[in-house]
Amino acid sequence: MSSNFQCRICAAPVQSFFDFGRQPLSDAFLPVDADLDQEFFFRLDVGVCESCTMVQLTEEVPRDRMFHEAYPYYSSGSSYMRTHFEDLAKRLLSTELTGEDPFVVELGCNDGVMLKVIADAGVRHLGVEPSGGVADVAAGKGVRVRKSFFEESAAQEILAEDGQADVIYAANTLCHIPYSVLPGVRALLKPTGVFVFEDPYLGDIVERTSFDQIYDEHFYFFTARSVQEMARRSDLELVDVERLPVHGGEVRYFLAPAGQRRPSEAVAALIAEEEQRRLSDPATLRAFGEKVLKIREDLRALLEKLRDEGKSVVGYGATAKSATVTNLCGIGPDLVPFIVDTTPAKQGRLSPGTHIPVKPPTAFSESYPDYALLFAWNHADEIMTKEQEFRDAGGKWILYVPDVHIV
Ligand code: SAM
Ligand code: TMP
Repeated sequence: MSSNFQCRICAAPVQSFFDFGRQPLSDAFLPVDADLDQEFFFRLDVGVCESCTMVQLTEEVPRDRMFHEAYPYYSSGSSYMRTHFEDLAKRLLSTELTGEDPFVVELGCNDGVMLKVIADAGVRHLGVEPSGGVADVAAGKGVRVRKSFFEESAAQEILAEDGQADVIYAANTLCHIPYSVLPGVRALLKPTGVFVFEDPYLGDIVERTSFDQIYDEHFYFFTARSVQEMARRSDLELVDVERLPVHGGEVRYFLAPAGQRRPSEAVAALIAEEEQRRLSDPATLRAFGEKVLKIREDLRALLEKLRDEGKSVVGYGATAKSATVTNLCGIGPDLVPFIVDTTPAKQGRLSPGTHIPVKPPTAFSESYPDYALLFAWNHADEIMTKEQEFRDAGGKWILYVPDVHIV
């Protein structure tokens, strides 16, 4: 299925491979008295560029609708992720940030989970964060924050005020930005500097059929090959890659000004593996789409069966990802009466699109259900350990990645 959509990286045609249909904004949790007729929907459709192989959405949601004062995702909500970011900060401090008066910029610093470590070490830094609520939390931790989107004009202003950076870092943020920020990154980076970013990896999404990684905020689904192509267009070079276990499988990419650092063997090895898997082949991606349809069928069938048997099912983790699952599968309060989540900004509201009430975790522990549908499956180890009592009480977890199963 070819679309008229042009690649946001290279302007070649993009071939659609899966259409999720009408979807709401994944993080737009509604007040219970909201006018539901006013809810914003868009068409969630994903395709692959016939030339540079970048996998991307074919319809873009205006950024201010997603990232604003009330953006409800707080990075510090997972203890595992806190450790992940603290480890990365310590690593940067002992490697890239050891020169004279080093300077690090983070795009999408959110609540300051990474930069707090840098601030505490007394190292010059700046977080660039358009979502006001989370940016305020970062500032409250002593992190220096600029409340704005990162784009070329922001890069020029930071350059004029602070000079070039030794490190620019972005976690789960670059894939959120459809327009090219790499020229701004290139201008802001010292010739010896490095741009480090990590995002969900297409290779893991395809392998695990983790289709719920696809939602409004995730515009790009990177591979080493597509990142290499994208970097080249802004005089940057992919010089290293690392596989990460977080969020269901990510890759951390290292870009340097072209010709400045020798690419590691890991870059060529990952690109060769992607080619061998035919990861960007439309046929591979269409086969992924077939598996998504099977998960939809199996999950609905399981939830309907449990409802008909009178079993209780509660959703666990009102993730942005869950909007894709509930809306694609048509899962509303009749199948999952409520979802529990630790985020105060989501509690007391309704999930986007299918309007399932979100409650605090006490609603779970006060009366354990028979089954918990784990929407936050990427935090499974942390959550299952914390909720051992649920299991001890006879409770079971429902997972739908890589297929629908009960554990
Ligand atoms: N880095 C954190 C992490 O990995 O947990 C936060 C990730 S959160 C999913 C994405 C963040 O990117 C949000 O805090 C959002 O406000 C921010 N963001 C979105 N567009 C941006 C842009 N153009 N420049 C800087 N930050 C942006
Ligand atoms: P994420 O998968 O995008 O990181 O979102 C995780 C969501 O799950 C977020 O809304 C916080 C919530 N959550 C819990 O409710 N309990 C937990 O133990 C963890 C780790 C996350």
